[in-house]
Amino acid sequence: MDELKNKNIILGVTGSIAAYKAPEIIRLLVREGAYVYPVMTRSATYFIHPLTLQSVSREKVTLSLFNGDERDIRHISLSALADILLIAPATANIIGKIAAGIADDILTTTVVATRAPVVIAPAMNERMYENPVVQQNIARLKSTGYRFIGPEEGRLACQDKGKGRMSEPATIVGFLKKIFSKMEDFKGKSFIVTAGPTREPIDVVRFISNYSSGKMGFAIAREMRDRGAKVILISGPTFIKPPEGVDFFVVETARQMEEKVKEYFDRVDGLIMTAAVCDFRPVQSFKGKMKKESKERVVLELVRNPDILEEIGRVKGEKILIGFCAEAENILQEARQKLKKKNLDLIVANDVTEKGAGFEVDTNKVFLLNSKGEVKSLPLMSKRKVAEVICDHIKQILEERQANK
Ligand code: PMT
Repeated sequence: MDELKNKNIILGVTGSIAAYKAPEIIRLLVREGAYVYPVMTRSATYFIHPLTLQSVSREKVTLSLFNGDERDIRHISLSALADILLIAPATANIIGKIAAGIADDILTTTVVATRAPVVIAPAMNERMYENPVVQQNIARLKSTGYRFIGPEEGRLACQDKGKGRMSEPATIVGFLKKIFSKMEDFKGKSFIVTAGPTREPIDVVRFISNYSSGKMGFAIAREMRDRGAKVILISGPTFIKPPEGVDFFVVETARQMEEKVKEYFDRVDGLIMTAAVCDFRPVQSFKGKMKKESKERVVLELVRNPDILEEIGRVKGEKILIGFCAEAENILQEARQKLKKKNLDLIVANDVTEKGAGFEVDTNKVFLLNSKGEVKSLPLMSKRKVAEVICDHIKQILEERQANK
């Protein structure tokens, strides 16, 4: 397969002993037909000479933001050129800087400026890797769409044994190949993804809502975008940054979400409803702020919101419809009912009482149930990984439809 042929890969090399493996990464990439543009931090040059990387890549090695010819704004030209940006080895320092949005050298500015996928291959001592701050930085980057390969267990440079060894060059190259092989999965297709909660106003300062953070929906939108789809992301209010390169709409109430979904549904190939839509809203929303004086008790009357997915299910035709199911008990039974009632192709069921699953967290543990009656149980994994598996299923549904035409 030619996944890497003619691909432009920016290779960031940082100050770790594992920098000695960078030439081998370049050699393998070049052998596959890729163009590799090395970028080195200052400390990386203590471990390996730039000339070595230049010789294997046959490209100029970029060492500084300022190279004497400022007509070429190097971090911008490199970031625009990149089909992928790989940092291998990546130290705790570079991971921390990227997580904090710091852009103070050629590599960090290129990372901040790029729209290409960024892959990070950490390499450090196990105690550094296990440091809670490093782990938080990694979790933060993962939840924003950065991909990690490794580190692995083994003997470390300091003679300790543990987790912190950079993955082997062949493993890293295999990982990049896998990413590229999926990049065209949804080329020419478009999908609506809904995310986050809805808010149903009681008055101008209060509302009914739920704990949805938008993480699951944003992860799906990001994965679909990375696999070539045009994505329309319709989200309730969240505190996280939406992925770049998608059409993003913020709505507040269930009825606004319904209106937006219906506006775009005709133009897309499918809908993935990750949003936690409030089932009920106050019958009446007060114009100003409801006063507490002279009231010991307030009775709030609620009315049913439209079930967006159920309504779309009635008119879906050939389009793909994926729902989620958030339950605290009888999860498979509830999911089966919703799959049928809402005329879905696939439902993703999560038990929101389970640790590490459901609302707010970066991980999820789900069951996938399809319209053929098949059930798959996935282990606890990052929401990004769950999104990847869901997209694999969508791809399979599309392929089956194509084959049956
Ligand atoms: O955002 P995060 O913090 O990452 O959390 C992720 C999540 C827990 C919100 C997500 O994994 C999830 O389970 N989303 C669905 C939540 C939900 O509303 O489930 P439900 O079982 O009540 O609804 C079933 C399906 O119908 C859902 O696809 C929902 O979007 C849809 N629905 C529900 C009610 C309604 N009025 N209209 C709908 O379209």
